[in-house]
Amino acid sequence: MNSFQSELNDEKQPAKPELPEYSLAQLALRNGQDRDEIWVGYNGLIYDVTRSRLWRRGNHYEHWAGQDLTQELQKDAPHTEHVFDKFHAIGRLKVPTSAAS
Ligand code: HEM
Repeated sequence: MNSFQSELNDEKQPAKPELPEYSLAQLALRNGQDRDEIWVGYNGLIYDVTRSRLWRRGNHYEHWAGQDLTQELQKDAPHTEHVFDKFHAIGRLKVPTSAAS
């Protein structure tokens, strides 16, 4: 990666055009109930939290995986989005997050 590219990547924006797109329906299949994979949608990206002990069976403090949880994190969580730093974004969410407030 050259310095220009790394500068671009300093922005914490969900660009990552190289990642595959998944629909909300595809995300919903990874809610920790029907398949082994556990995915969470956040800010346009999908994170694989399968290895997290805090998301076992897809449940995390009364929040369910397999959904876009952007607003829930902002409203309810006692932590910031930095909790995602140690997880890989494995895809992009096809439906854009509503910007309505
Ligand atoms: C009532 C709401 C919530 C509570 C009480 C809660 C609580 C916690 C706690 C105590 C931790 C571990 C300590 C820390 O990293 O700060 C954690 C980690 C985490 N939370 Fe939440 N959380 C809430 C909502 C959410 C939501 C809505 C999301 C997703 C958008 C989320 C995603 C995560 C992730 C990805 C981790 C890291 C898990 C790991 O490191 O294995 N949390 N949360």
